[in-house]
Amino acid sequence: MGAERPGTTGLFTLKDYEEAAKARFDQGSWDFIAGGAGQERTLAANLAAFDRVRLRPRVLSGSGAPDTRTTVLGRSWPVPIAVAPMAYHTLADPEGEVATARAAGRAGLPLVVSTFAGRTFESIAEAAGAPLWLQVYCFRDRSTTRQLVERAERAGFEALVLTVDAPRLGRRLRDLRNDFRLPDGMVPANLTGGDYASPSAHALTEFDPALDWSVIDWLREISSLPVLVKGVLSGADARAALRAGVDGIVVSNHGGRQLDGVPATLDVLAEITAAVGGVCPVLVDGGIRRGADVLAALALGADAVLLGRPVLHGLAVGGENGAAHLLELITEELVEAMALTGTPSVAEAGPALVGAEPEAT
Ligand code: FNR
Repeated sequence: MGAERPGTTGLFTLKDYEEAAKARFDQGSWDFIAGGAGQERTLAANLAAFDRVRLRPRVLSGSGAPDTRTTVLGRSWPVPIAVAPMAYHTLADPEGEVATARAAGRAGLPLVVSTFAGRTFESIAEAAGAPLWLQVYCFRDRSTTRQLVERAERAGFEALVLTVDAPRLGRRLRDLRNDFRLPDGMVPANLTGGDYASPSAHALTEFDPALDWSVIDWLREISSLPVLVKGVLSGADARAALRAGVDGIVVSNHGGRQLDGVPATLDVLAEITAAVGGVCPVLVDGGIRRGADVLAALALGADAVLLGRPVLHGLAVGGENGAAHLLELITEELVEAMALTGTPSVAEAGPALVGAEPEAT
């Protein structure tokens, strides 16, 4: 393993990758990736919520090798995991999203490509071996967003993920204190013009701060792709999303990077899956660092999870091979957690697994 994956020897957990990755970044870039908004209470809460989970195994279930497959928007996924949209994978590896797309493709996992990807949609699509979705920020200048959507659709992307928790960027104190600027030459490869060096300043001038649910209709007009909304944190907003006709919901607090003090995603997941009642897929992200965390999310009704920062850690440590290895590790952990809890399939991961309902017979 070590020979074909330089840099991955001796790394057995996503936490190992995080620790190994830190040394590969300058302080400003590390803080941009690792940090959250405000006092980072929500960032910490995402992790703490999963730390609190205790899985309740059923023994002698006779279930055999777990089946990790799931179906999302009509597509079969080998495991219920995809890569969350993150700006500038080029901070972690010069190949950026192209390397991530290859790594995700090796595992058959979908990749959600950020509006602020460091590589072009076309080059990512060429490298991809699994579905690509486009994360959409809606700009004041709708023609910019429209062009992004049209380009991604032409490149074969399969869904749009509209980020709805960012009328502006959260107050990220590490970035303010570091006066964080993107390294020279690093630009969002799919956008032209504009001063992108300071992500928060750019967002303040360019993001549409007054979006409402009618934006879903607008996306329907300009694209035939399914539309998911990312950043829902309440049952009420999940119901509003259903009324607006979305095809999927991502429960997310942006990895604690938007409003500090909003709940951990795991803590609102059951409320949202109950409100959605299976009408559309529900995905969740924020703080997922182990296979057992994936299983806990499934138990509370998620159809799949998105993995954020750890993927950048994998990339930074070993490029494509590092990210691929990291995705293998969490997949192996999920298989192990399913086997050891007697969970034969993704569909059979229910709330009793996390002790969230009275013991069934
Ligand atoms: C993000 N995230 C994000 N979300 C989004 O909708 N568009 C984006 O461009 C970005 N960019 C971005 C950059 C970086 C460096 C990070 C760490 C995160 C949020 C991301 O999609 C996801 O919600 C969180 O990262 C999930 O939490 P974990 O897995 O990182 O804890």
